[in-house]
Amino acid sequence: MALLSLRQLLDYAAENNFGVAAFNINNLEQIHAVLEAANETDSPAIIQVSRGARKYANDVVLKQMAQGAIDLYPHIPVVIHQDHGNSPKTCFSAMQLGFSSVMMDGSLEEDGKTPASFDYNVETTASVVKVAHTLGISVEGELGCLGSLESGHGEKEDGHGHEGVLPLDMLLTDPNEAQEFVQRTGVDALAIAIGTSHGAYKFTRKPDAGILNIQRIREIHEKVPNTHLVMHGSSSLPEELQDEFRKWGGDLKTTFGVPVSEIQEGIRHGVRKINVDTDCRLAMTAAIRKFFKEQPAEFDPRKYLTLARDAMKKVCHDRMVQFGQAGHGHKIRSTPLSQFSKYYM
Ligand code: G3H
Ligand code: 13P
Ligand code: ZN
Repeated sequence: MALLSLRQLLDYAAENNFGVAAFNINNLEQIHAVLEAANETDSPAIIQVSRGARKYANDVVLKQMAQGAIDLYPHIPVVIHQDHGNSPKTCFSAMQLGFSSVMMDGSLEEDGKTPASFDYNVETTASVVKVAHTLGISVEGELGCLGSLESGHGEKEDGHGHEGVLPLDMLLTDPNEAQEFVQRTGVDALAIAIGTSHGAYKFTRKPDAGILNIQRIREIHEKVPNTHLVMHGSSSLPEELQDEFRKWGGDLKTTFGVPVSEIQEGIRHGVRKINVDTDCRLAMTAAIRKFFKEQPAEFDPRKYLTLARDAMKKVCHDRMVQFGQAGHGHKIRSTPLSQFSKYYM
């Protein structure tokens, strides 16, 4: 059984100074893409599933697909993680499905839009940790709201996130609050706000320290050295990927993502989990657009979905190498979740 908890994997990553990409999956092609890349690079893998993905794929089917993929690659250490759980109920249902890690995103209220109070966030997250840790399952919390330090806007592109302008103190995680949050909740991993946001439109220029606050990672890490930091909204939007998407008719305004070099700097200062979805979406869609343009007479979905899967695999492969997880897969031995209690209350 290659399933392991997020805490197990990220403790190992911290001891060995690397970061782990967490890729969002919604279907068979994306599960294969992540695990094929992990297989090629000898990497551990984090597969994460949003509420939208669970609705799209159906919980029962998704569970079987994930289990099937794990059985196919028994030597790959895999974490299955609930991305942006909006309530304890969502997290508990993920635990019942067999996920080894959940994110309780209490930075927003259950509607996924309204910024929540610190106390609401603490209470909601702590209630999930209490249950999860008795089962050996890890919990990621979030403090601060993802959004642009350029415009002050929270992000709503993926249908979650605040819609209006937020004050700077909400868009940047406060290190002292992070310390109190971790003490009161016992989370294993903490997603922080440092200027990143979900989707394709993160920055209107190559980000500098004013709009992507890597220094803040260091300050937070000093306060919570045993809690693994998580960067959401960390697609890099490489120029060649943007060009490829546009070349085949995709409509994408000029945009800038989170440079891999900045993520690597974050990894040197406590970032262990890096969320990547948009780069995979763009790569898959560019491949499908190209196929449709070049082969208009074809209509076998397997032909273009294979190309889409390969395009996502390449993104996963690149990030696994760039974040340093490549080469570590065979060294990580999974412990049954029930026996894992190093940090649990
Ligand atoms: O959290 C953002 C991920 O990109 C997942 O997006 O909610 O559209 O599946 P989604
Ligand atoms: P991107 O939109 O930058 O890929 O971020 C994905 C993410 O943070 C999922 O939780
Ligand atoms: Zn996210």
